[in-house]
Amino acid sequence: MSSTAGAPLQPVHSIATHSANPTSTSLWSRLSAFISEHKVVVYTVGAVVVVATAGGIYYISQSAPGDDESAKEKKSKKDRRKKDVKDSAEAQADKVPGDSRKACSSSLDNSLPEVDENSVESLTVEQRNSYAAKLKAAGNRAYGNHDYSRAIELYSQALLCKRDPIFFSNRSACYNALGDWTKVVDDTTTALSMDPEYVKALNRRANAFEQLKMYSEALLDYTASCIIDGFRNEASAQSVERLLKKVAEAKGKAMLEEKPKKLPSPTFVSNYLQSFRPRPFPSGLEDGILLDEASGDYHLQRGLEAVKRKTADAYEEAGLAFEQAMELGTSHEATALNWRGTFKYLRGESASALEDLSRSIELDPSMTQSYIKRASMSLELGDRDAAAADFQAAIDHNSEDPDIYYHRAQLHFICGEFADAAKDYQKSIELDRDFIFSHIQLGVTQYKMGSIASSMATFRRCIKNFDKVPDVYNYYGELLLDQQKYQEAIEKFDLAIEMEKQTKPMGMNVLPLINKALALFQWKQDFSEAEKLCERALLLDPDCDIAVATMAQLLLQQGKVHRALEYFERAAALSRTEAEIVNALSYAEATRTQLQVQEKYPQLASKLQGMAGLGGR
Ligand SMILES: *[C@@H]1O[C@H](CO)[C@@H](O)[C@H](O)[C@H]1NC(C)=O
Repeated sequence: MSSTAGAPLQPVHSIATHSANPTSTSLWSRLSAFISEHKVVVYTVGAVVVVATAGGIYYISQSAPGDDESAKEKKSKKDRRKKDVKDSAEAQADKVPGDSRKACSSSLDNSLPEVDENSVESLTVEQRNSYAAKLKAAGNRAYGNHDYSRAIELYSQALLCKRDPIFFSNRSACYNALGDWTKVVDDTTTALSMDPEYVKALNRRANAFEQLKMYSEALLDYTASCIIDGFRNEASAQSVERLLKKVAEAKGKAMLEEKPKKLPSPTFVSNYLQSFRPRPFPSGLEDGILLDEASGDYHLQRGLEAVKRKTADAYEEAGLAFEQAMELGTSHEATALNWRGTFKYLRGESASALEDLSRSIELDPSMTQSYIKRASMSLELGDRDAAAADFQAAIDHNSEDPDIYYHRAQLHFICGEFADAAKDYQKSIELDRDFIFSHIQLGVTQYKMGSIASSMATFRRCIKNFDKVPDVYNYYGELLLDQQKYQEAIEKFDLAIEMEKQTKPMGMNVLPLINKALALFQWKQDFSEAEKLCERALLLDPDCDIAVATMAQLLLQQGKVHRALEYFERAAALSRTEAEIVNALSYAEATRTQLQVQEKYPQLASKLQGMAGLGGR
């Protein structure tokens, strides 16, 4: 086997992965776990913390709401409820039996002033204020009585007497009850123009925006409401999360449709391709054999040669060569289809990749690699059963192929079935002791199962038997980092970086650089060194989504919010799957929205500063 092979390994920190792709180092699970484990402040607008979890992003307050606060809130809620009951009791009392409601209210309204645009002109300020109060009270009674159109009339008259934001907000409650969302937006917007921190109006407008499917607007309002409220309102916080998901999903879908289909970073491609043991070239196409340049076979051979070079350019060349091989026709059609499909899959063209693999299997059912690749595509599309069926079919054709067990183990790993995963890694090792990645991944699995001692023993054995493979040091380092053995972890990352540089100067795997950045940040809060490492990784592999996302988080930590936002958006653009795009966009949207709130509500800055003083970072 090649000693320089890199392979798709599951990250140590991997929690529930969004992507079902068993062979990608899932960026987002790494970062999410990194954040939730270390409880770092991702974006500090005062006390605001965005914590990513497997399920999404939560805003929580650093200054934990004390018990007395929530008690206060409960009390005020109770008071409100009492008042509501009283209001509706009054409204009930208004109903005189035997009378029609209309007659009833008009008889009662006898004590009420009737106001219109003209008559209001002749009233004094005192009169206007007192009329407004009476009309509003009557409006509240009508509202309590579910007579919304009457309530709207009364609030409108109250507004003629006095333009009070409360009356606009009151009237919007009626439109809200009637489902007239546009009018809700109009009234709450007017109320908010008079009192920008009117939380009730803000929440009501947010809901109306959401009903109108104006998700970004709703998100902005809910976020502002949370900040004004000091993140004490659980419902608003949940709304932020819900809207964040909706906005990110909608944008992610659009992004995916417009996204040019291109290969991901060479780090990703190498990791995927090298999870399969190298196979000899098909007969007649061996390295060095000269072929007719106009033949498909020539292009197939060129593609296979390019794959071995492992650089971004070489992968581009390989992708094109496989397309050409298929266009010109080749004597190894099943192989050409397998490779064309593989590159389509890498470019994110899942459906047509799946077709190529299926045709390849029809032409040559004995190529177990095709089943395995098709299984990884099915998994990414969320079809676990199809993946399982393909693994079984592969075993039926060649039960001695270690690749099958390695990849099935990856599936178990992703699903959190660590005992099954360990069994399959062991089976793969039994069949081929020389494939380093089964050993590494077994060590990581043991670690996840809590068998720290056997995991460490596995890694020490790996170092003994594969002392020239950088990945061993990289993943060993990750486990050490997880145990907060920073010094040792960084030593391992340094070794991995050195070996990567020496063995693959052109197509170096940048993960050890990023891991070292995380370690330095976690250990010493050394932002500048961590940033430098990420920059170095990006110089070597500009499309590396993990490097971009790590950079975004580092910038956020330092309050460099605008730049962080740029990096989050770049990370989304670089992501391959919809789930990863949505995840990146959730961060981007959370960041963008909070920036917008800051710009829109400059007066909140001091409030947030005060909160920051309490909560700290
Ligand atoms: C009208 O506003 C007052 C004051 O905010 C509030 O107590 C009352 O519940 C509101 N009524 C409606 C229908 O929103």
